[in-house]
Amino acid sequence: MLPLYSQRRQRVMELIGQGTAVFASAPTVVMHHDVEHPFRQDSNFYYLTGFNEPEAVAVLAPHHEEHRFVLFVRPKDQEKETWSGYRVGVEQAKEQYGADAVYPIAELDEHLPQYLEKADRLYYHFGHNQTLNTAILKHWQKLLATYHKRGTGPVAIEDATLLMQHLRRVKDPEELALLRRAIAISAKAHNYAREIARPGRYEYEIQAEMEHIFRLEGAQGPAYPSIVASGVNACILHYIENNRRMEEGDLLLIDAGCAYDYYNADITRTFPVGGKFTEEQRILYELVLAAQERAIAAVQPGAPFNEFHDAATRTLTEGMVELGLLKGNVDTLIEEKKHKAFFMHGTGHFLGLDVHDAGILRNPDKTWKPFEVGNVVTVEPGIYISPTYEPVEGQPQIDDRWRGLGIRIEDDVLVTETGHEVLTAAVPKSLEAMAG
Ligand code: GLY
Ligand code: MN
Ligand code: MN
Repeated sequence: MLPLYSQRRQRVMELIGQGTAVFASAPTVVMHHDVEHPFRQDSNFYYLTGFNEPEAVAVLAPHHEEHRFVLFVRPKDQEKETWSGYRVGVEQAKEQYGADAVYPIAELDEHLPQYLEKADRLYYHFGHNQTLNTAILKHWQKLLATYHKRGTGPVAIEDATLLMQHLRRVKDPEELALLRRAIAISAKAHNYAREIARPGRYEYEIQAEMEHIFRLEGAQGPAYPSIVASGVNACILHYIENNRRMEEGDLLLIDAGCAYDYYNADITRTFPVGGKFTEEQRILYELVLAAQERAIAAVQPGAPFNEFHDAATRTLTEGMVELGLLKGNVDTLIEEKKHKAFFMHGTGHFLGLDVHDAGILRNPDKTWKPFEVGNVVTVEPGIYISPTYEPVEGQPQIDDRWRGLGIRIEDDVLVTETGHEVLTAAVPKSLEAMAG
Protein backbone atom coordinates (compact mmCIF):
# COMPACT_ATOMS: atom_id res chain seq x y z
CA MET A 1 0.00 0.00 0.00
CA LEU A 2 2.75 2.45 0.87
CA PRO A 3 4.72 2.56 -2.41
CA LEU A 4 1.55 3.34 -4.32
CA TYR A 5 0.77 6.49 -2.34
CA SER A 6 4.38 7.57 -2.13
CA GLN A 7 4.68 7.24 -5.92
CA ARG A 8 1.66 9.49 -6.32
CA ARG A 9 3.08 12.02 -3.86
CA GLN A 10 6.38 11.89 -5.69
CA ARG A 11 4.62 12.92 -8.89
CA VAL A 12 3.01 15.88 -7.14
CA MET A 13 6.38 16.85 -5.65
CA GLU A 14 7.91 16.84 -9.11
CA LEU A 15 5.16 19.19 -10.26
CA ILE A 16 5.53 21.66 -7.41
CA GLY A 17 9.35 21.84 -7.35
CA GLN A 18 10.23 24.42 -4.69
CA GLY A 19 6.62 24.78 -3.59
CA THR A 20 4.69 23.35 -0.65
CA ALA A 21 1.30 21.74 -1.12
CA VAL A 22 -1.28 21.47 1.67
CA PHE A 23 -4.23 19.10 1.35
CA ALA A 24 -7.15 18.85 3.76
CA SER A 25 -9.20 15.79 4.58
CA ALA A 26 -12.97 15.98 4.28
CA PRO A 27 -14.87 17.20 7.35
CA THR A 28 -17.40 15.04 9.16
CA VAL A 29 -20.80 16.05 7.88
CA VAL A 30 -23.71 16.53 10.23
CA MET A 31 -26.92 15.33 8.67
CA HIS A 32 -29.47 16.74 11.12
CA HIS A 33 -28.97 17.78 14.72
CA ASP A 34 -25.97 15.77 15.87
CA VAL A 35 -26.46 12.72 13.64
CA GLU A 36 -23.50 12.28 11.35
CA HIS A 37 -23.38 11.21 7.71
CA PRO A 38 -21.09 8.28 7.06
CA PHE A 39 -17.63 9.78 6.61
CA ARG A 40 -16.46 10.17 3.03
CA GLN A 41 -12.82 11.14 2.59
CA ASP A 42 -11.78 13.93 0.23
CA SER A 43 -10.74 12.29 -3.04
CA ASN A 44 -7.46 14.17 -3.50
CA PHE A 45 -6.47 13.60 0.09
CA TYR A 46 -7.23 9.90 -0.19
CA TYR A 47 -5.44 9.58 -3.52
CA LEU A 48 -2.24 10.95 -2.00
CA THR A 49 -2.33 9.39 1.47
CA GLY A 50 -4.77 6.46 1.71
CA PHE A 51 -5.61 7.99 5.11
CA ASN A 52 -9.29 7.71 5.86
CA GLU A 53 -9.98 10.04 8.79
CA PRO A 54 -11.42 13.54 9.12
CA GLU A 55 -9.59 16.49 10.71
CA ALA A 56 -6.31 15.72 8.99
CA VAL A 57 -3.94 17.81 6.90
CA ALA A 58 -1.22 16.51 4.57
CA VAL A 59 1.78 18.66 3.65
CA LEU A 60 4.11 17.93 0.73
CA ALA A 61 7.32 19.92 1.02
CA PRO A 62 9.81 18.48 -1.49
CA HIS A 63 12.47 21.07 -0.66
CA HIS A 64 12.41 20.43 3.10
CA GLU A 65 15.60 18.83 4.35
CA GLU A 66 14.00 16.18 6.55
CA HIS A 67 10.24 16.19 6.18
CA ARG A 68 8.94 15.93 2.66
CA PHE A 69 5.64 14.36 3.67
CA VAL A 70 4.00 15.57 6.88
CA LEU A 71 0.68 14.58 8.38
CA PHE A 72 -1.40 16.37 10.99
CA VAL A 73 -3.94 13.97 12.50
CA ARG A 74 -6.35 13.51 15.39
CA PRO A 75 -4.53 12.13 18.43
CA LYS A 76 -5.60 8.90 20.08
CA ASP A 77 -8.42 9.54 22.56
CA GLN A 78 -10.01 6.67 24.45
CA GLU A 79 -13.28 8.45 25.13
CA LYS A 80 -13.76 9.91 21.65
CA GLU A 81 -12.87 6.59 20.05
CA THR A 82 -15.58 4.92 22.12
CA TRP A 83 -18.14 7.31 20.65
CA SER A 84 -17.04 7.67 17.07
CA GLY A 85 -14.52 5.02 16.23
CA TYR A 86 -10.90 4.11 15.95
CA ARG A 87 -8.22 6.72 15.34
CA VAL A 88 -4.85 5.84 13.90
CA GLY A 89 -3.18 8.47 16.07
CA VAL A 90 0.16 10.24 15.79
CA GLU A 91 2.52 7.34 16.48
CA GLN A 92 0.86 4.81 14.19
CA ALA A 93 0.27 7.28 11.37
CA LYS A 94 3.97 7.77 10.90
CA GLU A 95 4.61 4.09 10.46
CA GLN A 96 1.44 3.12 8.69
CA TYR A 97 1.22 6.00 6.24
CA GLY A 98 4.90 6.62 5.62
CA ALA A 99 5.00 10.22 6.85
CA ASP A 100 8.37 11.79 7.69
CA ALA A 101 6.71 13.65 10.55
CA VAL A 102 3.29 13.45 12.18
CA TYR A 103 1.80 16.01 14.57
CA PRO A 104 -1.52 16.31 16.36
CA ILE A 105 -3.86 18.48 14.29
CA ALA A 106 -4.11 20.95 17.18
CA GLU A 107 -0.42 21.79 16.59
CA LEU A 108 -0.91 22.88 12.99
CA ASP A 109 -0.22 26.57 13.66
CA GLU A 110 2.93 25.74 15.50
CA HIS A 111 4.49 23.44 12.91
CA LEU A 112 3.13 24.51 9.55
CA PRO A 113 5.32 27.64 9.06
CA GLN A 114 8.55 25.64 8.91
CA TYR A 115 7.21 23.84 5.83
CA LEU A 116 6.13 27.04 4.14
CA GLU A 117 8.89 29.55 4.80
CA LYS A 118 11.31 28.24 2.19
CA ALA A 119 8.68 27.42 -0.43
CA ASP A 120 8.36 29.67 -3.47
CA ARG A 121 4.67 28.90 -3.83
CA LEU A 122 1.87 27.53 -1.71
CA TYR A 123 -0.54 25.05 -3.27
CA TYR A 124 -3.85 24.88 -1.46
CA HIS A 125 -7.52 24.56 -2.34
CA PHE A 126 -9.85 26.92 -0.49
CA GLY A 127 -12.64 24.44 0.25
CA HIS A 128 -15.33 23.99 2.89
CA ASN A 129 -12.96 23.90 5.85
CA GLN A 130 -13.19 27.57 6.87
CA THR A 131 -10.94 27.14 9.90
CA LEU A 132 -8.16 25.80 7.73
CA ASN A 133 -8.83 28.38 4.99
CA THR A 134 -8.37 31.13 7.57
CA ALA A 135 -5.27 29.51 9.04
CA ILE A 136 -3.63 29.13 5.61
CA LEU A 137 -4.31 32.76 4.72
CA LYS A 138 -3.00 33.92 8.09
CA HIS A 139 0.25 31.96 7.70
CA TRP A 140 0.72 33.10 4.15
CA GLN A 141 0.19 36.77 5.02
CA LYS A 142 2.55 36.50 7.94
CA LEU A 143 5.25 34.96 5.78
CA LEU A 144 4.73 37.63 3.14
CA ALA A 145 5.06 40.37 5.72
CA THR A 146 8.40 38.95 6.84
CA TYR A 147 9.61 37.94 3.37
CA HIS A 148 12.09 40.84 3.23
CA LYS A 149 13.87 39.51 6.29
CA ARG A 150 14.29 36.01 4.91
CA GLY A 151 14.27 36.49 1.18
CA THR A 152 12.17 33.33 0.91
CA GLY A 153 8.52 32.37 1.23
CA PRO A 154 5.52 31.62 -0.94
CA VAL A 155 4.84 34.60 -3.20
CA ALA A 156 1.54 33.17 -4.42
CA ILE A 157 -1.13 30.63 -3.60
CA GLU A 158 -2.06 28.30 -6.44
CA ASP A 159 -5.07 25.99 -6.42
CA ALA A 160 -3.96 22.51 -5.35
CA THR A 161 -6.84 20.66 -7.00
CA LEU A 162 -5.61 21.78 -10.43
CA LEU A 163 -2.39 19.89 -9.78
CA MET A 164 -4.40 16.73 -9.33
CA GLN A 165 -6.48 16.96 -12.47
CA HIS A 166 -3.96 15.45 -14.81
CA LEU A 167 -2.72 12.82 -12.38
CA ARG A 168 -6.15 11.51 -11.47
CA ARG A 169 -7.33 11.51 -15.06
CA VAL A 170 -4.90 8.71 -15.89
CA LYS A 171 -5.75 5.67 -13.79
CA ASP A 172 -2.96 3.53 -12.39
CA PRO A 173 -3.29 -0.28 -12.21
CA GLU A 174 -4.43 -0.20 -8.56
CA GLU A 175 -7.21 2.22 -9.42
CA LEU A 176 -8.26 0.15 -12.40
CA ALA A 177 -8.48 -2.95 -10.21
CA LEU A 178 -10.84 -1.11 -7.82
CA LEU A 179 -12.92 0.28 -10.68
CA ARG A 180 -13.23 -3.20 -12.15
CA ARG A 181 -14.41 -4.51 -8.79
CA ALA A 182 -17.00 -1.72 -8.43
CA ILE A 183 -18.17 -2.43 -11.97
CA ALA A 184 -18.38 -6.21 -11.47
CA ILE A 185 -20.61 -5.75 -8.43
CA SER A 186 -22.77 -3.19 -10.21
CA ALA A 187 -23.04 -5.45 -13.26
CA LYS A 188 -24.30 -8.26 -11.04
CA ALA A 189 -26.92 -5.92 -9.57
CA HIS A 190 -28.06 -4.72 -13.01
CA ASN A 191 -28.35 -8.26 -14.34
CA TYR A 192 -30.38 -9.28 -11.32
CA ALA A 193 -32.59 -6.21 -11.63
CA ARG A 194 -33.46 -7.19 -15.19
CA GLU A 195 -34.46 -10.65 -13.99
CA ILE A 196 -36.82 -9.43 -11.28
CA ALA A 197 -38.35 -6.24 -12.71
CA ARG A 198 -41.94 -7.07 -13.63
CA PRO A 199 -45.21 -5.18 -14.02
CA GLY A 200 -46.80 -4.84 -10.57
CA ARG A 201 -43.54 -4.43 -8.68
CA TYR A 202 -42.42 -1.09 -7.30
CA GLU A 203 -39.36 0.81 -8.45
CA TYR A 204 -38.01 0.84 -4.89
CA GLU A 205 -38.06 -2.95 -4.76
CA ILE A 206 -35.61 -3.02 -7.64
CA GLN A 207 -33.52 -0.31 -5.98
CA ALA A 208 -33.49 -2.27 -2.72
CA GLU A 209 -32.41 -5.51 -4.40
CA MET A 210 -29.60 -3.75 -6.25
CA GLU A 211 -28.32 -1.90 -3.21
CA HIS A 212 -28.56 -5.15 -1.25
CA ILE A 213 -26.15 -6.71 -3.73
CA PHE A 214 -23.83 -3.69 -3.50
CA ARG A 215 -23.44 -4.04 0.23
CA LEU A 216 -23.47 -7.82 0.24
CA GLU A 217 -20.52 -7.81 -2.13
CA GLY A 218 -18.51 -5.46 0.08
CA ALA A 219 -19.17 -2.19 -1.68
CA GLN A 220 -19.66 0.90 0.46
CA GLY A 221 -23.08 1.50 -1.07
CA PRO A 222 -24.47 3.37 -4.05
CA ALA A 223 -21.98 5.67 -5.79
CA TYR A 224 -24.84 8.19 -6.27
CA PRO A 225 -28.57 8.06 -5.58
CA SER A 226 -29.89 5.13 -7.62
CA ILE A 227 -32.30 6.10 -10.38
CA VAL A 228 -34.99 3.48 -10.97
CA ALA A 229 -37.38 5.27 -13.29
CA SER A 230 -40.27 3.55 -14.98
CA GLY A 231 -42.63 4.95 -17.61
CA VAL A 232 -42.69 8.75 -17.77
CA ASN A 233 -40.35 8.99 -14.76
CA ALA A 234 -37.51 8.12 -17.13
CA CYS A 235 -37.93 11.58 -18.67
CA ILE A 236 -36.78 13.15 -15.38
CA LEU A 237 -33.00 12.98 -15.51
CA HIS A 238 -32.43 12.95 -11.75
CA TYR A 239 -35.52 11.00 -10.68
CA ILE A 240 -34.67 9.34 -7.35
CA GLU A 241 -38.03 8.95 -5.59
CA ASN A 242 -38.30 5.42 -7.02
CA ASN A 243 -41.82 4.93 -5.62
CA ARG A 244 -43.97 4.10 -8.62
CA ARG A 245 -45.61 0.78 -9.33
CA MET A 246 -44.48 -0.48 -12.71
CA GLU A 247 -47.01 -1.33 -15.36
CA GLU A 248 -47.17 -3.52 -18.43
CA GLY A 249 -45.83 -1.58 -21.38
CA ASP A 250 -43.38 0.52 -19.29
CA LEU A 251 -39.77 0.96 -20.04
CA LEU A 252 -37.58 0.92 -16.94
CA LEU A 253 -34.47 3.10 -16.87
CA ILE A 254 -31.99 2.09 -14.17
CA ASP A 255 -28.96 4.31 -13.55
CA ALA A 256 -27.14 2.75 -10.61
CA GLY A 257 -23.64 1.82 -9.58
CA CYS A 258 -21.74 1.16 -6.38
CA ALA A 259 -18.70 2.68 -4.72
CA TYR A 260 -15.99 0.19 -3.80
CA ASP A 261 -13.11 1.53 -1.71
CA TYR A 262 -14.23 4.96 -2.98
CA TYR A 263 -14.05 3.96 -6.66
CA ASN A 264 -17.32 4.30 -8.54
CA ALA A 265 -19.25 2.45 -11.19
CA ASP A 266 -21.85 4.31 -13.23
CA ILE A 267 -24.13 2.17 -15.39
CA THR A 268 -27.48 2.75 -17.07
CA ARG A 269 -29.71 0.26 -18.80
CA THR A 270 -33.25 0.67 -20.13
CA PHE A 271 -35.57 -2.24 -20.87
CA PRO A 272 -39.29 -3.09 -21.08
CA VAL A 273 -40.56 -4.43 -17.73
CA GLY A 274 -43.01 -6.69 -19.52
CA GLY A 275 -40.22 -8.19 -21.64
CA LYS A 276 -41.48 -6.73 -24.92
CA PHE A 277 -40.72 -3.41 -26.62
CA THR A 278 -43.54 -1.51 -28.27
CA GLU A 279 -42.76 -0.39 -31.82
CA GLU A 280 -41.90 3.17 -30.68
CA GLN A 281 -39.79 1.95 -27.76
CA ARG A 282 -37.86 -0.38 -30.05
CA ILE A 283 -37.20 2.34 -32.63
CA LEU A 284 -35.91 4.77 -30.02
CA TYR A 285 -33.92 2.10 -28.21
CA GLU A 286 -32.14 1.12 -31.41
CA LEU A 287 -31.40 4.75 -32.12
CA VAL A 288 -29.88 5.36 -28.67
CA LEU A 289 -27.90 2.12 -28.93
CA ALA A 290 -26.53 3.11 -32.35
CA ALA A 291 -25.58 6.54 -30.97
CA GLN A 292 -23.91 4.94 -27.98
CA GLU A 293 -21.94 2.48 -30.09
CA ARG A 294 -20.73 5.24 -32.38
CA ALA A 295 -19.76 7.33 -29.40
CA ILE A 296 -17.84 4.40 -27.87
CA ALA A 297 -16.01 3.92 -31.19
CA ALA A 298 -14.84 7.55 -30.88
CA VAL A 299 -13.17 6.86 -27.52
CA GLN A 300 -9.59 6.34 -28.69
CA PRO A 301 -6.20 7.55 -27.48
CA GLY A 302 -5.52 10.87 -29.18
CA ALA A 303 -9.16 11.57 -30.05
CA PRO A 304 -10.27 15.00 -28.80
CA PHE A 305 -12.69 14.76 -25.87
CA ASN A 306 -15.61 16.32 -27.79
CA GLU A 307 -15.65 13.75 -30.59
CA PHE A 308 -17.59 11.06 -28.78
CA HIS A 309 -20.27 13.57 -27.82
CA ASP A 310 -20.39 14.87 -31.38
CA ALA A 311 -20.77 11.31 -32.69
CA ALA A 312 -23.68 10.62 -30.34
CA THR A 313 -25.34 13.96 -31.06
CA ARG A 314 -25.11 13.50 -34.82
CA THR A 315 -26.53 9.98 -34.78
CA LEU A 316 -29.38 10.99 -32.47
CA THR A 317 -30.20 14.14 -34.42
CA GLU A 318 -30.25 12.29 -37.75
CA GLY A 319 -32.57 9.73 -36.19
CA MET A 320 -34.86 12.39 -34.73
CA VAL A 321 -35.20 14.02 -38.14
CA GLU A 322 -35.97 10.67 -39.76
CA LEU A 323 -38.66 10.00 -37.16
CA GLY A 324 -40.19 13.46 -37.60
CA LEU A 325 -39.35 14.55 -34.05
CA LEU A 326 -37.17 17.34 -35.42
CA LYS A 327 -37.27 19.14 -38.74
CA GLY A 328 -34.44 20.73 -40.72
CA ASN A 329 -30.83 20.34 -41.74
CA VAL A 330 -28.92 18.15 -39.28
CA ASP A 331 -25.87 20.45 -39.07
CA THR A 332 -28.06 23.49 -38.47
CA LEU A 333 -30.15 21.69 -35.87
CA ILE A 334 -27.00 20.68 -33.98
CA GLU A 335 -25.50 24.16 -34.32
CA GLU A 336 -28.69 25.70 -32.96
CA LYS A 337 -28.81 23.04 -30.22
CA LYS A 338 -32.31 21.96 -31.27
CA HIS A 339 -31.45 18.34 -30.42
CA LYS A 340 -31.40 19.42 -26.78
CA ALA A 341 -35.20 19.20 -26.77
CA PHE A 342 -34.69 15.42 -26.51
CA PHE A 343 -31.00 14.95 -25.64
CA MET A 344 -30.17 17.63 -23.11
CA HIS A 345 -27.07 16.34 -21.34
CA GLY A 346 -23.45 15.57 -22.22
CA THR A 347 -22.42 12.15 -23.49
CA GLY A 348 -20.07 11.35 -20.65
CA HIS A 349 -17.61 12.25 -17.94
CA PHE A 350 -14.44 10.85 -16.46
CA LEU A 351 -15.02 8.24 -13.77
CA GLY A 352 -12.89 7.21 -10.81
CA LEU A 353 -12.64 8.32 -7.20
CA ASP A 354 -15.42 10.76 -8.01
CA VAL A 355 -18.42 9.85 -10.15
CA HIS A 356 -17.79 13.00 -12.14
CA ASP A 357 -14.06 12.59 -11.90
CA ALA A 358 -11.07 14.90 -12.18
CA GLY A 359 -9.74 15.84 -15.59
CA ILE A 360 -9.52 19.12 -17.46
CA LEU A 361 -11.33 18.89 -20.77
CA ARG A 362 -10.07 21.89 -22.73
CA ASN A 363 -6.84 23.66 -23.55
CA PRO A 364 -6.54 27.41 -22.98
CA ASP A 365 -7.12 27.97 -26.72
CA LYS A 366 -10.51 26.22 -26.31
CA THR A 367 -9.48 23.13 -28.27
CA TRP A 368 -10.39 19.87 -26.58
CA LYS A 369 -7.80 17.77 -24.84
CA PRO A 370 -7.34 14.30 -26.33
CA PHE A 371 -8.10 11.03 -24.58
CA GLU A 372 -5.04 9.32 -23.13
CA VAL A 373 -4.38 5.68 -22.32
CA GLY A 374 -5.68 5.06 -18.79
CA ASN A 375 -8.61 7.48 -18.97
CA VAL A 376 -11.96 6.03 -17.90
CA VAL A 377 -15.01 7.75 -19.29
CA THR A 378 -18.74 7.06 -19.23
CA VAL A 379 -20.60 6.95 -22.54
CA GLU A 380 -24.26 7.69 -21.89
CA PRO A 381 -26.39 9.19 -24.64
CA GLY A 382 -30.16 9.20 -24.25
CA ILE A 383 -33.48 10.38 -25.61
CA TYR A 384 -36.17 11.81 -23.33
CA ILE A 385 -39.53 12.84 -24.74
CA SER A 386 -41.51 14.63 -22.09
CA PRO A 387 -45.24 13.85 -21.93
CA THR A 388 -45.80 17.62 -22.06
CA TYR A 389 -43.32 18.37 -24.87
CA GLU A 390 -44.05 21.57 -26.76
CA PRO A 391 -41.96 22.29 -29.86
CA VAL A 392 -40.17 25.62 -30.23
CA GLU A 393 -41.08 27.72 -33.22
CA GLY A 394 -40.21 26.06 -36.51
CA GLN A 395 -40.19 22.55 -35.05
CA PRO A 396 -42.97 20.02 -35.61
CA GLN A 397 -45.69 18.97 -33.21
CA ILE A 398 -44.98 15.36 -32.37
CA ASP A 399 -47.18 12.33 -32.43
CA ASP A 400 -48.55 11.31 -29.02
CA ARG A 401 -47.15 7.80 -29.40
CA TRP A 402 -43.63 9.17 -28.72
CA ARG A 403 -44.55 11.00 -25.54
CA GLY A 404 -43.36 9.84 -22.14
CA LEU A 405 -40.48 7.70 -23.38
CA GLY A 406 -37.05 8.04 -21.76
CA ILE A 407 -34.06 5.91 -22.72
CA ARG A 408 -30.40 6.06 -21.72
CA ILE A 409 -27.63 3.51 -22.13
CA GLU A 410 -24.45 4.10 -20.12
CA ASP A 411 -21.20 2.15 -20.16
CA ASP A 412 -17.83 2.80 -18.51
CA VAL A 413 -15.01 2.77 -21.03
CA LEU A 414 -11.25 2.53 -20.53
CA VAL A 415 -8.92 4.10 -23.11
CA THR A 416 -6.27 1.54 -24.09
CA GLU A 417 -3.20 1.50 -26.36
CA THR A 418 -5.21 -0.04 -29.14
CA GLY A 419 -8.49 1.83 -28.66
CA HIS A 420 -10.75 1.12 -25.73
CA GLU A 421 -12.21 -1.52 -23.48
CA VAL A 422 -15.84 -1.45 -22.39
CA LEU A 423 -15.46 -2.25 -18.70
CA THR A 424 -19.21 -2.74 -18.28
CA ALA A 425 -19.52 -5.36 -21.04
CA ALA A 426 -20.90 -7.90 -18.54
CA VAL A 427 -24.22 -6.03 -18.59
CA PRO A 428 -25.94 -6.85 -21.88
CA LYS A 429 -27.55 -4.06 -23.89
CA SER A 430 -28.54 -5.58 -27.23
CA LEU A 431 -32.16 -5.24 -28.26
CA GLU A 432 -32.60 -8.99 -27.91
CA ALA A 433 -31.08 -9.14 -24.41
CA MET A 434 -33.22 -6.23 -23.18
CA ALA A 435 -36.42 -7.85 -24.38
CA GLY A 436 -35.55 -11.22 -22.86
N1 GLY B 1 -25.39 8.69 -12.57
C1 GLY B 1 -24.74 9.90 -12.71
C2 GLY B 1 -24.36 10.14 -14.10
O1 GLY B 1 -24.72 9.37 -14.96
O2 GLY B 1 -23.63 11.05 -14.40
MN1 MN C 1 -25.23 7.31 -14.56
MN1 MN D 1 -22.68 9.06 -15.74
